[in-house]
Amino acid sequence: MTPSDVKATLSFSDGSPSMALPIYKGTVGPEVIDIRKLYAQTGKFTYDPGFLSTAACNSTITYIDGDKGELLYRGYPIEQLATNCDFLETCYLLLNGELPNPSQKIAFTKLVTNHTMVNEQMQFFLRGFRRDAHPMAIMTGLVGALSAFYHDSTDINNPQHREISAIRLIAKMPTLVSMAYKYTVGQPYIYPKNDLSYAGNFMRMMFATPCEEYVPNDVLVRAMDRIFILHADHEQNASTSTVRLCGSSGTNPFAAIAAGVACLWGPAHGGANEAALNMLGDVQKMGGVEKIGEFIKKVKDKEAGVKLMGFGHRVYKNYDPRAKLMRETCHEVLGALGLENDPLFKLAMALEKIALEDEYFVARKLYPNVDFYSGIVQRAIGIPVSLFTAVFALARTVGWIAQLNEMIGDPEYKIGRPRQLFNGATARDVKPLAARV
Ligand code: SDX
Repeated sequence: MTPSDVKATLSFSDGSPSMALPIYKGTVGPEVIDIRKLYAQTGKFTYDPGFLSTAACNSTITYIDGDKGELLYRGYPIEQLATNCDFLETCYLLLNGELPNPSQKIAFTKLVTNHTMVNEQMQFFLRGFRRDAHPMAIMTGLVGALSAFYHDSTDINNPQHREISAIRLIAKMPTLVSMAYKYTVGQPYIYPKNDLSYAGNFMRMMFATPCEEYVPNDVLVRAMDRIFILHADHEQNASTSTVRLCGSSGTNPFAAIAAGVACLWGPAHGGANEAALNMLGDVQKMGGVEKIGEFIKKVKDKEAGVKLMGFGHRVYKNYDPRAKLMRETCHEVLGALGLENDPLFKLAMALEKIALEDEYFVARKLYPNVDFYSGIVQRAIGIPVSLFTAVFALARTVGWIAQLNEMIGDPEYKIGRPRQLFNGATARDVKPLAARV
């Protein structure tokens, strides 16, 4: 962190002593005011529920410029990574800070490929779930359960343990997600095949059966791989912050990632892709494009509690660059499948157009985010709606791990322990039961 020449001074109108607060600047983006000594010197906390103005850490992994609609992984624009790299190269970049050279890519791919199987005992966890369990309920359980199998990689403070648990998690998420899917449809699990690409292997484990081989369609495999790249990391979002806070207690990496899975499930976060597709289905049932105006009216009428799922973002106050790339992928996939006239895609584009011209959305800088189009692509590929967020978790695992490792490797890190403004009852005595009216 580079100290700024400018200092912040906190002064109080009651004449209490003022306080100079250091300001630090990063390589790009907003500067930070260092308040770490505030409570010790003033006895006061800052107040920022939702963390709208709080930088919780010093990171070098992902940078977002919400006003420009810019997203960089280790300095590389997402548009270039999505076009010139595959997901495992992106994983290597997020974990190590640089893109792999050819020999590094071969070695990393081999390492991940050789860890794709899960312990045979894992299948017995699934049997405890109802067949109609939500895949994210299953994934929250399975990812946490991994910590029961890899005692040689649970010490988060051991760099070797961090390295092997990262590989195991990246490698096994596709296997676990496909197992969660197969369990809900009553089909046998398909084992990973080491001669397939990461995305191709996932799609085969999803769609092959013992009776019929699945021949991956290259356009769909590339689209799946791009979906993974677009979802790989995103600065200090809710689930990543959950992983950091959970990991700061020193718990094992599998448990910390399981906490991220649980947080991502929410409809305001990773669950929005499932909610966005269900929303498009609802508008379709209302009457499709002709009924968009009526639906938008409901969204603008706060009482209805209806949101335009897949729109809006805490950071992006411009178009989410991932949404643009996802919309392009929609065109490619639907074109390859002869579904150019897919009614839901047409409805989504019509809804986007109307929303972007509506003052309510313009005034609030609400643009499509990564979740608005990802469901349409995944549905076209054959991924069931209920599995969309599990696919998001599969892709975000590498980002969670990179952020967790960065925190653990930061000499300044401490266990996260926020404070509060207390407005509850002050001290009072317990009355004996008989005396309570
Ligand atoms: C992800 O953080 C990340 O980086 C997340 C993510 C990642 O990669 O990790 O990018 C992934 O989670 C994307 C976001 C997916 N969620 C959705 O699409 C759900 C719908 N969006 C909203 O719930 C909302 O936009 C949030 C949660 C994403 C952001 O909420 P904020 O920043 O807290 O903003 P807000 O709720 O204060 O909204 C500001 C205004 C409000 O209106 P007013 O009170 O000013 O009148 O905009 C309105 C909100 O009511 N608003 C919406 C809206 N989103 C915000 N109105 C209708 N539809 C929406 N989608």
